[in-house]
Amino acid sequence: MKTTIAKVSQHEGEEVTIGAWLANKRSSGKIAFLQLRDGTGYMQAVVAKNEVDEDIFKLAKNMNQESSMYITGTIVEDKRSPLGYEMHVKTISLIHDSLDYPITPKEHGTEFLMNHRHLWLRSKKQHAIMKIRNEIIRATYEFFNNHDFVKIDSPILTGASAEDTTELFHTQYFEQEAYLSQTGQLYLEAAAMAFGKVFSFGPTFRAEKSKTRRHLIEFWMIEPEMAFTTHEESLEIQEQYVTYIVESVLKNCRLELNALERDTSKLEKIKAPFPRITYDDAIKLLKEKGFTDIQWGDDFGAPHETAIAESFEKPVFIINYPAKIKAFYMKPVPERPEVVLCADLIAPEGYGEIIGGSERIDDYDLMKQRYEEHHLTGPAYEWYLEIRKYGSVPHSGFGLGLERTVAWLSGVDHVRETIPFPRLLNRLYP
Ligand code: 4AD
Ligand code: MG
Repeated sequence: MKTTIAKVSQHEGEEVTIGAWLANKRSSGKIAFLQLRDGTGYMQAVVAKNEVDEDIFKLAKNMNQESSMYITGTIVEDKRSPLGYEMHVKTISLIHDSLDYPITPKEHGTEFLMNHRHLWLRSKKQHAIMKIRNEIIRATYEFFNNHDFVKIDSPILTGASAEDTTELFHTQYFEQEAYLSQTGQLYLEAAAMAFGKVFSFGPTFRAEKSKTRRHLIEFWMIEPEMAFTTHEESLEIQEQYVTYIVESVLKNCRLELNALERDTSKLEKIKAPFPRITYDDAIKLLKEKGFTDIQWGDDFGAPHETAIAESFEKPVFIINYPAKIKAFYMKPVPERPEVVLCADLIAPEGYGEIIGGSERIDDYDLMKQRYEEHHLTGPAYEWYLEIRKYGSVPHSGFGLGLERTVAWLSGVDHVRETIPFPRLLNRLYP
C-alpha cells in the first residue's frame, strides 16, 4: 500500500511503499540507516543485510544523497526518533540516481545556500520553516472565516501609491506608468464599505534599499479592513488573531518547532491582551535605555524596536505616532491632531514590527486636505476620496507581514529563510 511519512502512524506493523528521496545515510558491514524525506516529513529506514536481497543491500549502501526511490517495508514503532516510527526495509526500487548533490550535510556559507535556494528548500530546517509558514496561512484563513470576514483580492498592478513612506516599483502599463502594489489597503477600504469585514492576502512590493534581516523586496501581507470599527476595536482583533496563529503553530507544528530547536516556552506566553505603550512613552523608555539622541518626531529603527520589545514578554503595541512620520490616510487623535490613531505591533525577542495598522480618516474634507498636502491628484486617487462621500463610516485595518511573523515563530534570524524564493537587494534568482 502506498502512503506518506506523515501518515505512517496509521500503518504500524503493516507493509507500505513510500516515494522518497535520500536525505542522508550511514552504514556498517551489516546494516544501513537511510534518512528518508518525502515532502511530508523525515523518517529513518533500516536495511539489514540478512533481511534483503544482496543487490538491495548494495544499493542501500551505495545510494547517493537525493536519489529518488520507491521504498517498501514494515512500519515499526521507534520511541527514540522524533517521528516515533521507522521502516524495516524489504525492497527498494531506485527511480533516479542523484550524483554530486551540492548541499552536503556539512556547513555551507549563506551566499552558496542562497544561490542553491531551489535545492536548499529540501533541507530539514527549510522544510520546517515552510511548514510553519503554511500553518500560519491556514490558521489565518480559519481565523478570518470564523469571524465572518470576506476574502477580497486586491490588484497587484496599480496606479496609486498608498504607503508614501516607502519606495515604489515602477512599471509600464501600455502607455501609462504603473506601480507594483505596496499594499492592498486602498482597495480594501472600498471593499469594507461593500462587505463590512474583509481581508486580503497577497504579495506586496517595496523598492526599499534596506539591506536588513527584516526587509524583503517582495513580501506577503495579510490585510484585514473593518467598517464600523474603531482603532481600539481593531487592536483587540489584532491581538486575538496573533494569539490564534501562535496557538495553531504550537498545536500543529510540534515536529517542526523541535527540528528548529525553537524555545516554545516563550511562545506559550503569547496570549491576548497585549501591552500597549504610547509613542511618547516609548521615547521616554528609549532615553532611559541609553538612546540619548532620540527626539520626539523621530521614527524607530530596528535597534529601537528591539530595545522596546526587551521590556515585554508579549508583543507590544506602540500607539499614537506623530502624524508626520506615518501615512496620509491615518486619522488624527481628536484632541491631539499631531498624533494619529495607529499602532505598530512589535514582536518579542527582537523580531521587529510585525503589524502596522490604524483607523482611517473618514471625513471627506479632511481627506481632501490631506490630498492637497500630499499632491495626490488624478483618477488613480479620486475614487478613494469618493469612499468618504457616500455613507462614510469609522473604519480601521491593519497589515501583518507574513515573513516577519514566520521568522519570529520559527526563531530564524533572517527573513530570507521565511519565503520560498526571497527577493532581496541584488538578488532576483533562483
Ligand atoms: O506597516 P506597513 O507598511 O503597513 C501597510 O502597508 C498598511 N497599508 C497595512 C494596512 O493597514 N492595511 O506594512 C505592514 C507590515 C509591517 O508591519 C511588516 O510586518 C511588513 O508589513 N513589512 C515587511 N516585511 C518584509 N519586508 C519588508 N520590506 C516589509 N515592509 C513591511
Ligand atoms: Mg509599518
